[in-house]
Amino acid sequence: LCGFVASGEAQTYPTRSITMIVPFAAGGPTDVVARIVTSHMAQTLGQSIIIENVVGAGGTTATTRAARAANDGYALITGHMGTHAASVPLYPKLAYHPEKDFEPIALVAGTPILILARKDFPPKDLKEFIAYVKANAEKVNAAHAGVGSVSHASCELLHSILDVKPVGVPFNGTGPAMNALVAGQVDYMCDQIVNAVPQINANTIKAYAIATPERNPSLPNVPTTAEAGLPTFQAQAWNAMFAPKGTPPAIVAGLNAAAVKALDDETVKKRLLDLGSVIPDPADRTPEALAALVKSEIAKWTPVLKPVT
Ligand code: MLT
Repeated sequence: LCGFVASGEAQTYPTRSITMIVPFAAGGPTDVVARIVTSHMAQTLGQSIIIENVVGAGGTTATTRAARAANDGYALITGHMGTHAASVPLYPKLAYHPEKDFEPIALVAGTPILILARKDFPPKDLKEFIAYVKANAEKVNAAHAGVGSVSHASCELLHSILDVKPVGVPFNGTGPAMNALVAGQVDYMCDQIVNAVPQINANTIKAYAIATPERNPSLPNVPTTAEAGLPTFQAQAWNAMFAPKGTPPAIVAGLNAAAVKALDDETVKKRLLDLGSVIPDPADRTPEALAALVKSEIAKWTPVLKPVT
């Protein structure tokens, strides 16, 4: 166990516990990924990393808080494709900018999107789902984790492909949204695989398709959207760690090294892979690669998502 000395700093970082802000409810996909990775990072850094779930506004409340936190390495955020890309076109008055207000630390997981439904939702497969949602667009509803979340942006993409506008039902995260889906209180959801695998395995929900080019090893029986008849719906989210802008480079480098070490740990890898996550390749784990990803994801989502008024 050891800390490391940040250049120009008198003390060794970290000398106290670190807060990792998670912008959604406990038990959801961001929370699960953050807990798996930070539990190993804490061993490397020799200090505990405390998860703080800060919910609201599709993750943007927490991300604003993280952007304004002291840039001393003690307040970090696990953001994702929603908080650090999709929220930009959706919120013209967003109080932070993912590129200008953060130091990227590391990409920690890719999380494919699935189209999921309550167990007794009538359509049996994706083709029936498409026909049913088109025929009943004013009656069906889609759960999501707030405007700007991954589940919201992914289903916006799906709905634009199907040319439908069903009612959205917002939750503080897809953890609680999944509980509502299992309870049959909402109809369907576009969610990250990490949240879906335990429920699909327990047979408590339906999975119509996974929106990636290949099937996922953790869900070998779930067809791809291409196999199931909707090849144009492709969506994979990602989870990544960021520090407030101006955090000393030596601290960012040390946090990156701890995250990379966690991703190379067999137990961490197995826990992420068992939940269907994609472990980033070494070349994709650098702060520079994460900065490039954020830029390209903002460019990708901007034409897809209309600003909320
Ligand atoms: C969560 O952790 O609840 C999710 O990442 C929410 C989402 O963005 O859909």
